[in-house]
Amino acid sequence: EPIKPPELDKCGTATNLNTNEKLDINCCPPVTPKIIDYKLPPVRFIRTRPSAHRVTPEYIFKYNMAIDRMKRLPATDPRNFMQQANIHCAYCNGAYDQPGQGTLDLQIHNCWLFFPFHRWYLYFYERILGKLIGDPTFSLPFWNWDNPKGMTIPPMFVDPKSALYDEKRNQENLPPAVIDLGLTGSKDPLQVVSNNLTVMYSEMIRGNQTAEDFMGSPYREGTSPNPGPGASERGSHTSVHAWVGDPRQPSGEDLGNFYSAGRDPLFYCHHANVDRMWTLWQYFLPSNKVPDKKITDPDFLNASFVFYDENAQLVRVSVRDSLDNLRMGYDFERIDLPWLDYRP
Ligand code: C2O
Repeated sequence: EPIKPPELDKCGTATNLNTNEKLDINCCPPVTPKIIDYKLPPVRFIRTRPSAHRVTPEYIFKYNMAIDRMKRLPATDPRNFMQQANIHCAYCNGAYDQPGQGTLDLQIHNCWLFFPFHRWYLYFYERILGKLIGDPTFSLPFWNWDNPKGMTIPPMFVDPKSALYDEKRNQENLPPAVIDLGLTGSKDPLQVVSNNLTVMYSEMIRGNQTAEDFMGSPYREGTSPNPGPGASERGSHTSVHAWVGDPRQPSGEDLGNFYSAGRDPLFYCHHANVDRMWTLWQYFLPSNKVPDKKITDPDFLNASFVFYDENAQLVRVSVRDSLDNLRMGYDFERIDLPWLDYRP
């Protein structure tokens, strides 16, 4: 049976998974009795998510305004900035149990739900931001860390006066520090860039023999948390979290800890690139290694989550409806993929 959406009224205490201690914050969303089955709206235009290093000052101004407005929403509004951050805490830090499975935790990481869950999370986040600035074409930027031109924290996030700023980041890794996707610890930028491309080649192409190697292991009703991450989740995705998280904080906050990751606006920019990796893998990569990229298991396709949409309506969404980004109305700016032929 597929994973069922959590029961919001049974949301409980979350755990800091880095220390295994109970968290003294409440990351549960507001409870509303009415849930609607979400229907993807007809696509009238495509939102094109831009590379975060290439955006215009006008774009940065709008994005900053949207995040600022999100932060100013009432704290109880499910679209409020902290409420949005807490989605990650609730789904990832044991606040939810699997419905009908006793105290078995619901955990959407380290399994095949990783890509679909985060895709829906960003989908609504983007629509909320667009709504707050009256721009239905607003598109989240992606942190193009797989290309040498994007291997630093995008500049707009490090302006202390911006709503995109977060002080809880590793101060050694602010620009011009080069992201270290393999967490090698090397301080030689050329060596790090070259290793990054090798990491990308391995996790996008070489390491994958089956769809599950890339997507993550099966996770169904009754499965214990963390059956196993896919190559991209385990690799570049987790490295970016760890690399940005602040070692001055008790537990790697913000980006380096599940419960706090969504408090850094950079999280959504990072995950836009993670989401882009899924799209590239599905539609653009040579398919010789994994001839069938589609997982047809109904326990995958029928798994579902709940989110608040841009109108603060609680909606139920399925993995099935998340498989095609164009059907969801967005795409990514085309950027070349220098790792494509970067065999180690
Ligand atoms: Cu839900 Cu990048 O983690």
